[in-house]
Amino acid sequence: MFKWFSHSEIERDIFSPDSLVRCHFTLKSGRISYAIYKNDKLIIKPSKLGFKICGEAPLQDNLKLVRTQVKKHAEIIELQWGEDRYINNNYTEAAFYLAENKDPKRIMTLRFRIFDNSVAFRYEIPPQPKFQRITIKDELTEFNIDLNTTAWKIPAYQPDRYEYNYERAAVYDLKHSVHTPLTLRTQSGCYLAIHEAALYNYGSMTIKLNDQQILKTDITPLSDGSKAHVDLPFSTPWRLIMLADSAIELTTNRTMYALNDPPAQDFSWVKTLKFIGIWWAMYVGEWTWAPGERHGATTAHAKEYIDAAVRLGIAGLLIEGWNEGWEGDWLENGINNKFTVSTSDFDLEEVASYARHKGIELVGHHETVGFIDNYEKQLESAYNYYAANGVHYIKTGYAGSMMMINGRREFHHSQLGVNHYQKTVELAAKKHICLDIHEPIKGTGIERTWPNLLSREGARGQEYEGGALSPSHACFLPYTRLLAGGMDYTSGILDLANSVKRMATTLARQIAYFVTIYSGMAMAADRPFIYEDRFPEVFKFILDVPTNFEKTLPLAGEIGRYYVVARKDRDSLDWYIGGVTNEEGRRIHISLDFLDSGVYQAEIYADSDDAHYRENPFGINIQQKHVGRGEALDLYMAPGGGFAIRLKKL
Ligand code: NOJ
Repeated sequence: MFKWFSHSEIERDIFSPDSLVRCHFTLKSGRISYAIYKNDKLIIKPSKLGFKICGEAPLQDNLKLVRTQVKKHAEIIELQWGEDRYINNNYTEAAFYLAENKDPKRIMTLRFRIFDNSVAFRYEIPPQPKFQRITIKDELTEFNIDLNTTAWKIPAYQPDRYEYNYERAAVYDLKHSVHTPLTLRTQSGCYLAIHEAALYNYGSMTIKLNDQQILKTDITPLSDGSKAHVDLPFSTPWRLIMLADSAIELTTNRTMYALNDPPAQDFSWVKTLKFIGIWWAMYVGEWTWAPGERHGATTAHAKEYIDAAVRLGIAGLLIEGWNEGWEGDWLENGINNKFTVSTSDFDLEEVASYARHKGIELVGHHETVGFIDNYEKQLESAYNYYAANGVHYIKTGYAGSMMMINGRREFHHSQLGVNHYQKTVELAAKKHICLDIHEPIKGTGIERTWPNLLSREGARGQEYEGGALSPSHACFLPYTRLLAGGMDYTSGILDLANSVKRMATTLARQIAYFVTIYSGMAMAADRPFIYEDRFPEVFKFILDVPTNFEKTLPLAGEIGRYYVVARKDRDSLDWYIGGVTNEEGRRIHISLDFLDSGVYQAEIYADSDDAHYRENPFGINIQQKHVGRGEALDLYMAPGGGFAIRLKKL
């Protein structure tokens, strides 16, 4: 729906398909702005738009509206894998074609899409005489929200990239840049997340208060101080504002994917994967990445782990530390990493052939430490080497605090970083390789276009256990980081009381993560003997839980306190439910009305009444019973605990 105003100054209202969300566009005194209303309540006050461009006048003044084009779009999109197979792509679009009314008479289009649960817009700059390649000095987009709005934030421009604990603050405290998705709750109870979709060839958007106390984009700069160098035509990523009436409803927002293009090539070869790894043994100090007496990635260990994967029924094996470059302080010496040269005690050809013979997918590993010049030089040969050995999955890593390129230090989330990650995704697609990127660029839904990007990290994961993770962290993630897509949280560490890495969780909670934190590549992160010898009954859930879901139904939760979600398997009629809580224990009542008719066998893994993430982390009750639609389950989550349920259709 579209409403016209007949003032001399131009105002346009664009309504969502259900008419409840309204975007109010204005052009006054040559300047453009927008505001957002939901249910007639003002959510985003008039906010400025435009750019500063190096060596040119800013592109924000003296604008006139040349033409407006409005259309409606209604479509159901099918995603190849993920949390939901089908998502709605229903919106009202308004494209405002703008031109400067003074020299240099540049032109620009502002395209809005108003969904029932989101507002998105982007700038499109066509090529024009004397305006072909530009350097963006600043993007002026504002999100003018009330200063008393509550925000859940992690800081930007810090050495650990996106790996911080979420903090609650008022918007008036956002004096330093924060990452997106930035989750917010207005005083009137509207929940929002400000994020972006389809981030290509541009710096990632961070947000902070400007001098006028208005939230404004702060595009991650390059080391030359600019935000991006772009050839025209150029479209910015979509600026995305997700809207909901509750925190739990916010978690169902999939507009980010709708704003990305469908795949342009065949990706039917992409398959989600569950894998174990030569990995946690390094974190608990049993093995090392570097060669030596306790080297993890030896041919012998790899074969043992392949045999274990076969016995466990897990399809994949990650091997870290197999290549040259880990000697000494690997974080300092990353420039030496060689991605086609194995250590002398590891034979990739032999291991790959053994894995193939046993039907196990290897997950290769490239730790770049952020030395992307070193990596890019080897990229083609490194991917060819894996492809030639039948390796279809690679976990990449960028553990440095900055990216290093020819002596320059650049932010991971700068235009340069964005373009580097994209290069790896596209090359991997060519070689039929799937990626799980650690220390990645944040998710902006490009997995819709590039389904071989199966997972990424991009938040504190379980490697921070042993002191730097509190039970509330995994209760923040669904409402914040996970709005940007799946995450490799390295779930399923059952050796909770390990003296090197003491986990701040209960046993049931570790398996709940396989449901509460979606990942297209899901790692069962503990060592195989822990699953086989110590917790075979708990491991059964890890084995059963799928990595690809038909649909997701968040059931209950509050930001940072708890989260309960049900997901239906894509390949069967079974459902899975996971719940996690913070330091507080709580009881949850789950109505099973979402089930189809018929009888389900519920396999319930829940904290025992005396479980506690510190005092009794292993307290678990595993029980089975028959349930059906119309019934309910009452569950207890211990402090720092959770539960996992399989509902198997009989
Ligand atoms: C950090 C990654 O998150 C972790 O999974 C990996 O083991 C190390 N870097 C080494 O590459």
